[in-house]
Amino acid sequence: MKVGIPKESFSGERRVSLVPSAVAPLKKLGVDVLVETGAGDAAGYCDQDYSSAGAAIVPTAHALFQESDCIIAVRTCGACGECWSTEVNRLRHGQILIGSCDPLSNPQACAEAAKRGVTLFALELVPRITRAQSMDVLSSMANIAGYRAVLLAATTLPKIFPMMTTAAGTITPAKVLVLGVGVAGLQAIATAKRLGAQVSAYDVRPAVKEQVQSLGAKFVELALDTGSSETSGGYAKAMGEEFYAKQRELLGRVVADSDVVVSTAVIPGRKAPLLVTRDAVSKMRPGSVIVDLAAERGGNCEATIPGQTTIVDGVTILGPTNLPSEVPFHTSQLLSRNNLTFFTHLLTLGLPEVSLDDEIFRETLVCRGGDVLHPKLRELLGLAPHNALASTQSV
Ligand code: NAI
Repeated sequence: MKVGIPKESFSGERRVSLVPSAVAPLKKLGVDVLVETGAGDAAGYCDQDYSSAGAAIVPTAHALFQESDCIIAVRTCGACGECWSTEVNRLRHGQILIGSCDPLSNPQACAEAAKRGVTLFALELVPRITRAQSMDVLSSMANIAGYRAVLLAATTLPKIFPMMTTAAGTITPAKVLVLGVGVAGLQAIATAKRLGAQVSAYDVRPAVKEQVQSLGAKFVELALDTGSSETSGGYAKAMGEEFYAKQRELLGRVVADSDVVVSTAVIPGRKAPLLVTRDAVSKMRPGSVIVDLAAERGGNCEATIPGQTTIVDGVTILGPTNLPSEVPFHTSQLLSRNNLTFFTHLLTLGLPEVSLDDEIFRETLVCRGGDVLHPKLRELLGLAPHNALASTQSV
């Protein structure tokens, strides 16, 4: 088996899917590693590091795709934007493709991969179960994004975060509000606390109250019935429009009293819920900052523009869409570990022939043998259910 590591082509993407330290464990499993020249440069891993570790350097993307049985990418399919139209033509029948694909927002790209006859695994679909934690790229990246979001807010705010008692007077701490307390939200709370801010946080799932308090932050309680807000998989459920309208109204008061809002609220596979209206923004103090991590999914704030910084009524609103790429050395290390564990798991299952009994395999497999197999994607593409997997996958 030859595994190929491409140089990412998506604009501004600096991460690489496998770092040199992952080459030796793969070689031990009898896998050869091919690396497109310069693949790790932007992340701080040079060709020499890979070749010293035992990988072969390949001169072009074309050659890499020609020679590899399996491609492990940071981004592919719908997650690599306009580059996909070039990449899809490089794929060969029977080739295995692993990476982030943005399958639920871009099912059409997955259908194009199916047409090329590839076996595609979308890493966004790794189930959040204990056994799969070390393969969970979304969690690895969200954790870093939560950290970076707070640093961005701290350097944008015209105030400092910590309380300071000085000979020239006492400075009160900045008030940071975190909306959505999943992986990114928890790290945002922890980072803002470390910087000395006064932190409060809100989530629809009542179960997170304890986690928020264990980090030393205050949990914001709203007079809303959130009893049915969590799925059995631990994700938030989509609620009705009436619920969201009430939520926005109640949150408005908390938002107005915050110097910084870091918003991370998402429902898998859906547009991000709108939590902060333009009106709520106008009630914040001038100079306040909103970092909207959900920008890519439409944003939690009405005034967010994905990928841009805007100023509305004196409030700075940042809509970053690829924070993990800003710290590519470490995010590549984390991704590499996720990818190595995932790929090793597939090998132990017998890749390329793998039993559909395994939950991780079943949940991440998008297409094989020319067919889109994932039930959720078939549904999104308007295809009838497929016999091979029945309805065993859940998203
Ligand atoms: P997660 O699923 O772990 O957490 C999302 C949280 O939002 C959950 O706790 C959920 O209960 C909560 N939530 C959902 N609806 C809500 C509502 N109406 N009110 C309050 N809370 C609500 O997601 P994770 O992994 O923490 O990711 C968070 C966001 O960060 C995602 O949008 C992800 O795409 C984004 N992200 C952004 C990056 C960037 O560079 N902008 C990089 C990595 C992640």
